[in-house]
Amino acid sequence: MSIGNLIYTVPEPGTAAAKKVAAACLDCGHQAPFTPNLMSCEVCGSQWLEARYDYQSIRTELPGLVKPRPSSLWRYHELLPVYEPNPDLSMGEGGTPLFRAVNLGMMLGLPNLYIKDERQAPTSSFKDRQAAVNIAALKEAGITEIVIASTGNVAIAFSAYAARAGIKLWAFLTSLVPAEKMREVALYGTQVVKVTASYDQAKKVAAEFAHQRGLYLERGARSIPSVEAMKTIAYEIAEQLAALQPPGDPALQTGWVAPDWYFQSVSGGLGPLGVLKGFYELHDMGLIERIPAIAGTQTVGCSPMARAWKANRDQAKPVESPRTHIATLSTGDPGRTYTLLRQRMRQASGGLFESVSDEETFRTMHILAKMEGLSVEPAAAVAFAGLIKLVRAGSIKPTDVVVVNCTGHTMPIERAILGDGWVRNVELPSKLRDEETPQEGLLAALNRVTADRFPRVLIVDDTVEARRLIRRILQAQGNYQIMEAANGQEAIETAQVELPDLIILDLMMPEIDGFGVLDALKADAQTAPIPVIVVTAKDLTPEEKTRLSGQIHTLMQKGEFMSDDLHEEIDALLK
Ligand SMILES: Cc1ncc(COP(=O)(O)O)c(C=O)c1O
Ligand SMILES: [Zn+2]
Repeated sequence: MSIGNLIYTVPEPGTAAAKKVAAACLDCGHQAPFTPNLMSCEVCGSQWLEARYDYQSIRTELPGLVKPRPSSLWRYHELLPVYEPNPDLSMGEGGTPLFRAVNLGMMLGLPNLYIKDERQAPTSSFKDRQAAVNIAALKEAGITEIVIASTGNVAIAFSAYAARAGIKLWAFLTSLVPAEKMREVALYGTQVVKVTASYDQAKKVAAEFAHQRGLYLERGARSIPSVEAMKTIAYEIAEQLAALQPPGDPALQTGWVAPDWYFQSVSGGLGPLGVLKGFYELHDMGLIERIPAIAGTQTVGCSPMARAWKANRDQAKPVESPRTHIATLSTGDPGRTYTLLRQRMRQASGGLFESVSDEETFRTMHILAKMEGLSVEPAAAVAFAGLIKLVRAGSIKPTDVVVVNCTGHTMPIERAILGDGWVRNVELPSKLRDEETPQEGLLAALNRVTADRFPRVLIVDDTVEARRLIRRILQAQGNYQIMEAANGQEAIETAQVELPDLIILDLMMPEIDGFGVLDALKADAQTAPIPVIVVTAKDLTPEEKTRLSGQIHTLMQKGEFMSDDLHEEIDALLK
């Protein structure tokens, strides 16, 4: 069988690797063969079922089977509840890149910070995994009409896959969903039902509608294909992290490596539940050594899980009316998903739930775009805002390997996020001067936009990465003429020749260090008045602090400031 233009080898039915998916009841342990129509346990009636496979045989065969396959979530199809992956439904779901966040990692003092970029999914969010696996399972079972409730992205993802599969979709959206997202859902031919109420209430209306009409209802964490789809994120991270380790690294013995932390923005908690199951499976099969700590981040205005976690409760108290601009994360009542997550996190993985404000989130969106080149939707930025908060609180060690799920970007940036002043207008004079051609008029107008004299800043640091980071901070937040010096000698010479308006100085450099540079600058009447900001990773001794006092304007500790903090200092000095 082939997926796209690449060949998959499917094990013969009856062989050890052939798929056996059981639905196991979380309450009484009863197991039955999985089909999407199985909604509850035949013995005790519980709706909480979980997929189980023949891990014994899969464990030995998986690494060999997976290696030659293309990067897609179907790479792990022996561990998914679809009997025959259908290439005609596929749009390249899963297999998103994992890359190092060099600039953000440097600002936070986390050299092993990685981003799993789920924006690069077919409809630009990690919910495509859920939609792809569900729609494949439903199609296989002959189901042709389904109902979902959504805060936006689930509906967009299911709409796209349902369109390909020829499945009619009813999407119940809370009225909090931005109009742009609603229109996208409708574009795919989905019947949108806008429920003027909270997301929890929209879910109830959808369930009642499905019940009355006898239609299949997608049930998030209680739906086996949904949890199984999300677990592929764990499999991919473990394979991709292994590929990024230097050869000979002891962690590489199995070809799978787990991070210390997995960060994700959380609404209903399906993502972390699935990802945690994935890491549990990898661990139980002996493929990874540890189960990562999960950091679930919510918005302050809708944080039932973070509140319950901090109060050490195993049940989350529902938030009746969420107060956040980030409607995507507005599950007020996470129900048993929270209880399960807490139980499993405490059992094996550790981790925590944290909450961040909308303002912190919007600020983080700017940082991610300007420092890492990633434009993400607010719901995805919540995870990064949580990371920044937890690093500052000392919960993450500088040596930790951290992966953040960049869950999506399916929404145009709204006015409120950018504020004013982000655009410069070029207006052509309505009347050209006699001697001007239209091109000259345009150039003159452009020149007026850029005519100001830009402050001249000298960056002194012996590491390329640090110079690039500071250069980027300056470039992204204003207009500067930037010079660089890679060592003390070069710094002194450049300062004497160029007389910059500001010097940003590192302390630890070979030969002439930052202290030496300062001494030389202050000994020369021309360079002595130039303001200096020291940016250093060094823990200063009291003597060193005394040496600096009166000599510099600001001391900033690497790993303790964000890009806009430094920019504020610079702006204040140059005014
Ligand atoms: C972009 C984005 N991030 C995070 C989430 C939270 O997902 P969950 O808590 O269901 O795993 C969602 C849910 O819709 C989302 O769309
Ligand atoms: Zn049962």
